[in-house]
Amino acid sequence: MSQAPVIVHVSSEVAPFSKSGGLADVVDALGRALVDEGHRVLTVSPRYRGVAPDAAATDLHVTATLGGHPHRAEIVQLNREGVEHFFVDSPLFDREGLYDDHQGPFGDNHLRFALLCQAALHVARRWTDGDCVLHVHDWQAALVPIYLKGLWQPLGLLTDATTVLSMHNPMHQGRFPAGLFADLELPPRWFSPGALEFHGDLCLLKGGVLQAQQISTVSPTFAREILTASGGFGLHDVLASRAVDLTGILNGLDTALWNPATDPHLPASFDSDDLSGKAICKAELQAELGLPVDPDAPLFGSIGRLDPQKGIELVIDSVPWLAEQGAQLVVLGSAAASHRHLEAQLGALEDRYPRHVRAWIGFSEPLAHRIQGAADFFLMPSLFEPCGLTQMSALRYGAPPVVRRTGGLADSVHPADASGQRGTGFVFGPATGSDLREAMWRALAVFGDPSALEGLRLRGMATDFGWRAVVPDYEALYDRAKALAGERAS
Ligand code: ADP
Ligand code: GLC
Repeated sequence: MSQAPVIVHVSSEVAPFSKSGGLADVVDALGRALVDEGHRVLTVSPRYRGVAPDAAATDLHVTATLGGHPHRAEIVQLNREGVEHFFVDSPLFDREGLYDDHQGPFGDNHLRFALLCQAALHVARRWTDGDCVLHVHDWQAALVPIYLKGLWQPLGLLTDATTVLSMHNPMHQGRFPAGLFADLELPPRWFSPGALEFHGDLCLLKGGVLQAQQISTVSPTFAREILTASGGFGLHDVLASRAVDLTGILNGLDTALWNPATDPHLPASFDSDDLSGKAICKAELQAELGLPVDPDAPLFGSIGRLDPQKGIELVIDSVPWLAEQGAQLVVLGSAAASHRHLEAQLGALEDRYPRHVRAWIGFSEPLAHRIQGAADFFLMPSLFEPCGLTQMSALRYGAPPVVRRTGGLADSVHPADASGQRGTGFVFGPATGSDLREAMWRALAVFGDPSALEGLRLRGMATDFGWRAVVPDYEALYDRAKALAGERAS
């Protein structure tokens, strides 16, 4: 049997080095799960300011001409839990934010991520024998298949490599004015409807979708939704043209990191044999955040980017009702520059309902764990959700989620019945505040029935979201990508 190809993940985020959301968690955990199954795995990501200070220098220096100027990058390396992580160290990444600052997205993001993609190909050439799967994530890595086919393979380089593009959030497409295409230093034919041109603009994700050997997204339901006019973010026709090459694979959860029995961030541990620690977690969090310490006040948690995607506006709309019910709400999140008003709205609600609402604006992993440990229920009424990881950690921490029936939420939360005897959470359809309140009402009814609540919690905690089960689906995807690359080459 021939040796398995090396898997090279190319991503703008890899936890624990850089993270703004679930993409980082997925690349980290999937990489380790593949290593556990015997694969050799590399990652290539930017060395943003302060990232991986312990990484070692390598002998690879990359110079990529972009926008008419040579951009030099050093490649530094660090091995962690069997995964070989490579970082692209360039002044283009040496900034506070990953993608933006308080004024909005950086104006040179197309250059920054073109450099990441070029550097990734250099890493693949230097540290594999060429037999590799370049698994590229989201628009920031979508130029990899294009540079491979457009610049590298015509020179006889990396001819055995194949590509898989995973979409974690196709709402973000890397769309830029057409004039910036010239900065990518590609032959003009790549600015065409079969590649990077989209309604007269440059669209990096579209190019990747059309040029990768295989494409995937992070849940089966979302893979179907993006083929529809209402769910495809304008790319549905492009995606439909690749429907036979599109797979939806539900993300896993890092069940070592998210384990209420061993979580160092929790004031008390608990598991399905003994839930008593959860009450301690709740009381401690209420005290920490200055909410009334009251075991009988149902506590709803919410963690995530403050972005309309997450349905946070439905939550805001429901706060007065929640307060009337005597419930408490703890929100942890922060917004990009374009959505700062959401932070202000939550702050105003906290002032108005001090006994019911706490909004912690910022990013805090320890607090995220404490909220999951404490919450009675977890709110995630997303308008769309490719997969979602926080509803999975909520299930594991005995906080039944209240979710909208969409994408990965539909695939990971099973609707509870009225008596709470079946299912793992509360699911609703239309994206309105009143539909969310109706679902929260059902949750409150179960809260009033301790044995039903316990049954619901235990079923959620027993759900297996480990990565191991997912690895064979990725292996099959990589096999298909390899086979197709071979066919097309011969
Ligand atoms: P998305 O990738 O759309 O942001 P996911 O649910 O897939 O949503 O992943 C979000 C990840 O980021 C989870 O690990 C979650 O705990 C974490 N996270 C999001 N916002 C915060 C925050 N403000 N503080 C700590 N962790 C956060
Ligand atoms: C994206 C999606 C989220 C998904 C994550 C990891 O950020 O919004 O649903 O869980 O990527 O795949």
